Amino acid sequence: MSEPSGQELYERIPTKVFEDASLAVCEVAKEIAEAIRARQAEGKSFVLGLATGSTPVPLYRELVRMHREEGLSFANVTSFNLDEYFGIESRHPESYHRFMREQLFDHIDIPEAQINIPQGAVAREEVFEACQAYEEKIEACGGIDVQILGIGRTGHIGFNEPGSGPHSRTRLVTLDRLTRLDAARDFQGEHNVPRYAVTMGVGTIMDARKVYLLAWGRSKAEVIKAAVEDAPVESLPASFLQAHSNAYFILDTASASELTRNKYPWLVGFPAWTPELARESVTHLSLKLGKPLLKLVDKDYQENGLSELVTEQGPAYGLNIRVFNEVQHTITGWPGGKPDADDTYRPERALPARKRVLVLSPEPQDDVLAMAATLSRLVAHGHEVTVAYLTSGSLGVPDEEANWAADLMLEAGDSAIASDVLRELEEKGAFSEDSPRLRTFKSYLRRNEARASLEMCGLSKSCIRFLDLPFYEKGRYRRFEVGEEDVAAMSRLIDEIKPHQIFVTGEAADPSSVQAKSFSVFENAIRSFSSEPWYKDCYVWLYRSDGREWDIHQVEMAVPCSPDEVKAKAQAIYQHRSQRSQLPSMNADQSEAWEQAVERNRGTAVLYDKLGLAEYEAIECFVRWSTVEGASK
Ligand code: GLP
Repeated sequence: MSEPSGQELYERIPTKVFEDASLAVCEVAKEIAEAIRARQAEGKSFVLGLATGSTPVPLYRELVRMHREEGLSFANVTSFNLDEYFGIESRHPESYHRFMREQLFDHIDIPEAQINIPQGAVAREEVFEACQAYEEKIEACGGIDVQILGIGRTGHIGFNEPGSGPHSRTRLVTLDRLTRLDAARDFQGEHNVPRYAVTMGVGTIMDARKVYLLAWGRSKAEVIKAAVEDAPVESLPASFLQAHSNAYFILDTASASELTRNKYPWLVGFPAWTPELARESVTHLSLKLGKPLLKLVDKDYQENGLSELVTEQGPAYGLNIRVFNEVQHTITGWPGGKPDADDTYRPERALPARKRVLVLSPEPQDDVLAMAATLSRLVAHGHEVTVAYLTSGSLGVPDEEANWAADLMLEAGDSAIASDVLRELEEKGAFSEDSPRLRTFKSYLRRNEARASLEMCGLSKSCIRFLDLPFYEKGRYRRFEVGEEDVAAMSRLIDEIKPHQIFVTGEAADPSSVQAKSFSVFENAIRSFSSEPWYKDCYVWLYRSDGREWDIHQVEMAVPCSPDEVKAKAQAIYQHRSQRSQLPSMNADQSEAWEQAVERNRGTAVLYDKLGLAEYEAIECFVRWSTVEGASK
């Protein structure tokens, strides 16, 4: 038997990491296509287990492309979907029946009779039998050949929430609060989200002959790490796949970023000690041992798998000082550069003293979640700041909010629009999509929230742009298609401002998300300016608005916030009224957006403090995007 490689010491399931989701799905689609064709050649059928959610969307697009362009036929395929919400009709816009039609079945030649999806609309007393019948049908078809899976933030597969046993079968389940919160936007409000679902069991999934679990984006990184590297537990059903002899995790770099091989590469092999990796490992060592950077000694390095680093770049004290200085130089209270100061070691240039700054926010609120305090500073330091909201965010407005606003208008005597909106809300119920008029109304709500929020950061209305990018206006979640008109709108804005600084987010988000689509619009637009003189002098800063902050060694600009600035930030986020939770009290894990954002910034300050740098109340942080195509620095 060969010695296990370093990676195998940590990973309990075969895991393949691809540069991005599109490369990953090409490989999976190719393998599925080959398997389907091989069965066709034998005159046999192929049984494919399918999943829903954002994750499989790129895979389905690739399969549809193969059908159209390469003649891949699904005539011999029988499909079984993992799950369906209970209590909703298949015509509901968020039913998995409808999702599968829109994403796959309507575009390929799979015969209707060979499509199987658990029924969500059966009477409660019939569910048990329907579930049994589903299991029997899978068996009658010879079992599932290949099962596609995504993974929920709770670690669920299908709708097997934490607590699902490894031998569970198709059944009715109660959805976890976090899962329902994640679905709240799709359903225009948490209270529209079904409480129950019908799902294949973990045991049903384990019976599949081959399993691919796909995951994209940083928001999945933690749960992926736990599923791949920790012992299997009921609290994380995806971890049961470790016991499957033919299951594979297919990841993009963002979702794989917490794996030991990426996070601590020195523990699994012999990496080249670049300055970045040295910084990463030294900061990690300091935090792990609870010792400030400048107190680390050679022995600490040697006893923690870093003897090569300290031999190559030590002794410890010199290495410590180097990393300490690098981290120290990320801190600045002048996010737009400090005029009249030596900027050799500052993240931003001193000149021009007054910069044109463009902040791109995919949806209203992304901006303030990540950088309300930085925005306020930029304004206070006299820079010309423009905040552009790329999409209207109308899809994220719960119906109750529209109702509230329309009621208010009605009372104030503006009855024409208000009564139309109220009537539409009433007629629509939870079962149809918003009309263009209702979407526009909801987008006005978000505009007003955004204006109120930016006012807290010192920005006047004239500094705000609403781009309402067409990909969003024409689309729905998971069905966004970026087009030339989106890129043209973004290019016009950039060309008009010719910014010295751009703040943008979404480069590591799930590829179907609004943030990732917005980033791709930006990326396409900015390319056309690469030879412009102004662009050569433009710094692009990436911010993170989702739950996860940059790792400490990645940070290139750290903007400290005073206690008052932290309060003001919370106030700014609070203005996004339609995004507040519908529940009056939340537990620690599911706190409100402003609490989470502030907590995250406080967490960064704690890390800086632990490394032995100054102790701040909170820190907002940024990473510079390299102008090298597609890569962040
Ligand atoms: C839902 C589905 C799962 C899916 C999960 C993650 O809970 N029932 O099958 O894996 O969402 O969704 P997404 O891919 O959108 O992150």
